[in-house]
Amino acid sequence: MNKLNLSVIPGDGIGKEVVPLTLNVLDTLASVHGGVKFEYEKYPWSCEYYLEHGEMMPKDGMAKLHQSDAIYLGAVGNPQLVPDHISLWGLLIKIRRECEQVVNIRPAQYIKGVKSPLAEPNDFDFVVVRENSEGEYSEVGGRIHSGDDEIAIQNAVFTRKASERTIRYAFDLAVKRSGKVTSATKSNGIVHSMPFWDQVFKEVGTEYPNINIESNHIDALCAFLVSKPHHFDVIVASNLFGDILTDLGAAVMGSIGIAPAANINLNGNYPSMFEPVHGSAPDIIGQGIANPIGQLWTAKMMMDHLGLEELGSLLFKAIKETIGEGIKTKDLGGLSTTEEVIDYINAKILTQA
Ligand code: NAD
Ligand code: IPM
Ligand code: MN
Repeated sequence: MNKLNLSVIPGDGIGKEVVPLTLNVLDTLASVHGGVKFEYEKYPWSCEYYLEHGEMMPKDGMAKLHQSDAIYLGAVGNPQLVPDHISLWGLLIKIRRECEQVVNIRPAQYIKGVKSPLAEPNDFDFVVVRENSEGEYSEVGGRIHSGDDEIAIQNAVFTRKASERTIRYAFDLAVKRSGKVTSATKSNGIVHSMPFWDQVFKEVGTEYPNINIESNHIDALCAFLVSKPHHFDVIVASNLFGDILTDLGAAVMGSIGIAPAANINLNGNYPSMFEPVHGSAPDIIGQGIANPIGQLWTAKMMMDHLGLEELGSLLFKAIKETIGEGIKTKDLGGLSTTEEVIDYINAKILTQA
């Protein structure tokens, strides 16, 4: 029996509602596989944990995570309890950084049965490869002075190493897909980092003569994702650009409630982390209507990462059919509860296996 140890952090808000239910789906997948077992280490690290302990995770928390095969996270953030900059730097960003999860992979594709806001969604299918360790999310800077003289400074940090590995990941992915990489840039303006990013993109591109490359300014790219999403295959972007593009990608799909993400450690020295694109959705907590598909599609990415592609495919098929059969939460225009969607998917997996 292949035992896989998963660190589970439901986090805040709807993370707490959705994650435990999706573990049932993971158990169903393991049961139909027969040769794999998921063992969960559940951690209550969240804003409520912070109020009790004065920190988002205990001192030995990171060491505990390091022992797992993967980290499965819901969402972090409850600004009514704890300011976001404390909860996010103390948990989400801390894990991404200390587990060296240097790229963030975020697919978006047309899913039949999900009403896209686009007039003609045209079967788009793209993946954003987001730099996940530096850029605009640097730790260089801070707030100085006070009152009218107060200044907030954050220097965008673009290292050759991080830019190169992100861009190379995007090219390698494009080799396995349709063979096109679009770089999100802003080199037309006054942003010093972007001509550098463009240069690295061009240099890495020369190693992949069979891949089509293009660069779009981030502002135009946002517009293109709405006007011609089917044009794109792999999009590579800096940390902040990638963040913004992927909420947009989610909206183009039809709901942020379905978008998945994978924070990948490329060296295998620490575990990768799987968390959906959406946040803790404070506005819908406790209503039983949180869409579990973003979390489940994220679980599919985790299955693929763990070498369980067969289970990943089974799960994705069940997700798509469930949506196609109209079992959808409110954000997708449906009437089903979170639990009903989960139950339906569980049943589907059992009958399809
Ligand atoms: P959000 O993604 O939580 O919510 C944006 C909108 O989308 C809300 O209207 C929400 O109800 C809806 N939504 C999100 N997920 C949904 C789902 N699964 N089903 C149905 N509707 C869904 O973004 P926000 O409101 O900007 O952030 C709320 C909190 O979450 C903040 O503290 C923020 O910092 C945090 N956040 C955390 C993560 C993360 O942990 N990865 C990601 C984004 C935001
Ligand atoms: C995401 C989130 C995070 C990010 C926030 C909560 C720090 O928006 O995962 O997309 O910007 O990376
Ligand atoms: Mn985001």
